[in-house]
This record gives sequence, C-alpha cells and structure tokens, in this order.
Amino acid sequence: MDNRLKIIILFATLCLLQRASTTAYRCTDHYKGYCVIENVTTESLPASTFPPEKSLLIQNSTIPAFGAECFRKIPVTENLMIHHLKIERLNLVECAQLTTLFASFNHISELNVQEGLSLRSLHLYQNMLTNVSALRVLTTLEQLYLHDNLLEVLEIDVFADMKSLKLLTLHRNMLTAIDTKQPVSLPSLESLFLQHNKLTYLDTGLWRMPTLQKVDLSGNQLGYLFTFLEEFPALKQLELHENRWNCAWLYKMMDRMEIRNIQHSQVDQSCEGTLFQEICCFSEGAAPDPMMLLISRTAIVDDLQDQLGCQRKKVEQLEEAHRKQSFRFDEMKQKIDQFEEFCKRVGL
Ligand SMILES: *[C@@H]1O[C@H](CO)[C@@H](O)[C@H](O)[C@H]1NC(C)=O
Ligand SMILES: *[C@@H]1O[C@H](CO)[C@@H](O)[C@H](O)[C@H]1NC(C)=O
Ligand SMILES: *[C@@H]1O[C@H](CO)[C@@H](O)[C@H](O)[C@H]1NC(C)=O
Repeated sequence: MDNRLKIIILFATLCLLQRASTTAYRCTDHYKGYCVIENVTTESLPASTFPPEKSLLIQNSTIPAFGAECFRKIPVTENLMIHHLKIERLNLVECAQLTTLFASFNHISELNVQEGLSLRSLHLYQNMLTNVSALRVLTTLEQLYLHDNLLEVLEIDVFADMKSLKLLTLHRNMLTAIDTKQPVSLPSLESLFLQHNKLTYLDTGLWRMPTLQKVDLSGNQLGYLFTFLEEFPALKQLELHENRWNCAWLYKMMDRMEIRNIQHSQVDQSCEGTLFQEICCFSEGAAPDPMMLLISRTAIVDDLQDQLGCQRKKVEQLEEAHRKQSFRFDEMKQKIDQFEEFCKRVGL
C-alpha cells in the first residue's frame, strides 16, 4: 500500500473514532472552589462525561433546555453554577443531591420542579420568570432569589411550605399584587425584599412572619398598608421611601415604628408632597378611609382575642371578612353577611 493511501486510511479512522468517542469534560480552572467546565453544547451532551466534582461551574456554553439529561451527568454535584448559559427552560429533576443552584443571568421563562429535592439555596435572579408556582415543592429552601424577573402577580402561598426560608428577594419585578387566600406562616423568614415593583396596595393581614426583621417596600406606589406591623413582631428595619404614602397614615405608622424601635435607613431625596421624618407623603394621597378601618380592625381583633380567647383561625376569618368588606365595596353586602354569621357562630 502506498504511503499516501495509508495516511488517508489512518486519518479517516481517526475521524470516525473522534465522532464515536465521548467528550470527557475536565476542569479547565477553579473558581471559588468550583471546578470550571467549558464549551458544553446540547449536541455534545448525550455522549459526554463530567468530572465527579461536588462543586461545578459550567461556562462559555449554550444549553437552552437544562434538565434531567444534564443532571444525570453530574450525580454527585451538590453545588452547581450555571450562569449565562442562555437557559430558557429549567427542569429541576433527578438532582436530589443538589443543595445550591446558581442559575441567574439566563432567559428562564419555564420552570418545572420535582418533589422531594433538598435545595437550600436557589438563585434565579435576572431571568424571565412570570410564574414561579412550580417552586412550591421546594420545602427545604433557606434562600430564594427571584429579583429582576417579570413577575406581575404572586400568591404568597407559593412559599407556604418553606418553613426554613430565611431570605426571599422579589425586588425589581413588575408586581402589582401579592395575594393570599389563607394565612401563610413563614416561621424562619428574616428578610423580604419587595422594592421597585408596582405595588399600589399590599395586604399583609394574613402573613404570619414572627422572625421577620427586614422588609424593603421602597420604590412602589403604595398609599397605605393594611397593617400597623402586628404580624411582624420581630421587625427592626422597614424601608418606605419612594412611595405615595397618605400623610395621615404615615404619621400613624411612624408613631408605631418609633414605639417599637423600627428603623428606616434610607430617605426620600426629592419630594413633591410633604416630607415627614424624611419620607415623602401626600396629604390628599390615596384613601384615608382604610386608615380608620385599620385602627378599628386592630382594635376589634385585639378585643376579640382578649375577650373570647377565640381560636386564632376564627379571628383570621373575621379579620379577612372585615378587611374585604371595607376595601372591596362591591363585595360588601356578602361580607357583612359572613361577618354576622360568624358573630352568631361565636355567640357575640
Ligand atoms: C472553548 O472554546 C473557546 C472558543 O472556541 C476556546 O478558546 C477554548 O479553548 C475552549 N475551551 C476548552 C476547554 O476546550
Ligand atoms: C468564558 O466566559 C467567561 C465568563 O462568562 C468570559 O469572561 C470569557 O471571556 C469566556 N472565554 C471564552 C474563551 O469564550
Ligand atoms: C402558573 O403555573 C402553574 C403550574 O406550575 C399553573 O397551574 C398556573 O395556572 C400558572 N399560572 C398562570 C397565571 O399562568
């Protein structure tokens, strides 16, 4: 056989071997204790192996759908960083060992989550999420980062089973409402970030957050709250600047804050209304009626609790009925009926 033919055959064999062989990704670098892997593609993934590292960072890769196929390749990885991979669909399945996931700076709009995972820290900021209902099953979460997404409405119930959740970030979304249909208890929550959304009202009457220390409500369009912070007995810091507070309500709130030694660290830099303790308010700002409602609500609830030693649940029903009765005028009649029925039931 002449040499040229030999070379051609050798070359062809090499090419075939190359195509059939698996890509064995290796750590090209280490970053903060993470093994760094590069150039992963959806095409190369099926026939590839990953190093069995506890902490893995995938970079310079494009993986539009990140799911079971990826997680099967990294069965021992507990900490995974998959920032900037143009991920659109994230499917958290077959990753029972995962405790920390950084998947920020992607294009994630679709999210699926298997039950029974043990994730403690989940970073999903800077994505395109409009619906985070799927996160409901992540009951072991301690830190959840959802800021800089496209959330418009949110049911706080989604987090109801996250009894270890300490930190929840929701700032810079487009939230106009945060609803709940039943009392939601988050016994470990310490920090809640809601700043720079589009909230015009926020009803926290059914939130039970006994350890909440820090809440940021700045940069919304709030005129008043349906609370004087009774549901946050541990609160130390409350940011209020850049809102549309009703002055009468704000004065009252500031009184409460002073009595309980709750601080605000930031102030309004400019104000078209009146500055009160460096927070801007508007004397003709949204509806003072709810303020009266609040005072009476607080009194009624306190009174009921004292007098009847009523079960908490029943008080909550009354609270809810009472709030809705006054706020949603169209539902007033119905709510008054409920209220009366309740009173009859508890023998008032
Ligand atoms: C990944 O691809 C880039 C650009 O093509 C290249 O410079 C780099 O060496 C590749 N890294 C690895 C580990 O193959
Ligand atoms: C790999 O990604 C990092 C961070 O995303 C970037 O700084 C770097 O330039 C990229 N390298 C290549 C070879 O593309
Ligand atoms: C959000 O997703 C859940 C399922 O994960 C679905 O049941 C629900 O209807 C979705 N909500 C909206 C507003 O699309």
